[in-house]
Amino acid sequence: MKNSISANALPRLDSDVATSEFARDLRNGLAQSPRSIPPKYFYDAAGSELFDRICELPEYYLTRTEQMILSEHAAEIAEWIGPNAEIIEFGAGSLKKIQTLLDAFDDEQSPARYLPIDISGEHIASAAKQLRARYPHLLIQPIIGDYTAPLSLPTADARIGQRVGFFPGSTLGNFHPDEALAFLRSAAAMLRGGSLLIGIDLIKDPATLHAAYNDSQGVTAAFNLNVLRRANNELGADFSVDAFHHHAIYHPVHQRIEMHLISRREQTVHIDGQRFLFSEGQTIHTESSYKYSIDGFRSLAMKVGFRPGPVWTDPQRLFSVHWLHAPA
Ligand code: AVI
Repeated sequence: MKNSISANALPRLDSDVATSEFARDLRNGLAQSPRSIPPKYFYDAAGSELFDRICELPEYYLTRTEQMILSEHAAEIAEWIGPNAEIIEFGAGSLKKIQTLLDAFDDEQSPARYLPIDISGEHIASAAKQLRARYPHLLIQPIIGDYTAPLSLPTADARIGQRVGFFPGSTLGNFHPDEALAFLRSAAAMLRGGSLLIGIDLIKDPATLHAAYNDSQGVTAAFNLNVLRRANNELGADFSVDAFHHHAIYHPVHQRIEMHLISRREQTVHIDGQRFLFSEGQTIHTESSYKYSIDGFRSLAMKVGFRPGPVWTDPQRLFSVHWLHAPA
């Protein structure tokens, strides 16, 4: 997994508990109208690899634009972070993006502690080992868990500086507005008196968005369809994957890209003995990817007490990286 911070950014689930949660969420989602599947189920091993490929597609501007913004403004961001900071990364995955920030510090100013949070224990442990070899003076304490649920953090040394949350990749865009607000509220509580550095994709012309989510190589289509394959593999469902097709469209009213899987024909799918009938053209809504204006996102953050600081963007204003001061 090369690029996998964002691939891992939505909480992923392991183990038997997760399998039964997947079965429950899938059955519940398909019982609703319109049908849906939560996007966190995209990210099994195959889905994470497909997401890594998405990040490198010429049409998918998000990852490389955010990386460019972070690299270009790393020195200034490092000043905002300040000396001996504690950085908490939400959905940290393979701990790649943090390195752009860590590399911007002089040894004496460097962060004191890094707490990457991720649901995948195995993955984060091996990534942390590699990071320790590269930054021997940084205390790295991975936290295995779902960052959207309350978590207890290891106690901090009194000499530790500012607490900074790091949430790159515009993963917040995959949360519906009430979930985004709930996340920001709990981040504000966790970062009390500190700050949040967060990557947010911006509203832009629909053609650019359509291209990014309907790439010419069909990688996004494979990523979307993979959730059905995962249900077949893990839950013994019998989706005919070829009988669905990928559809992604921008809804200007909701300011979001919606991804769907559309049934090509009338068909029946079985999950755990339950039957789901699909008519031709019936859709399963698999993901929303909300896009914000800079002011729109700042207003959302202000609702839960954040005070906006600087915003860094690219010359075409495709993507934004926000500094937000958490309430005291
Ligand atoms: C992880 N997340 C920010 C991606 C996005 O752009 O919403 C997921 C994705 N879906 C399709 N392509 C990428």
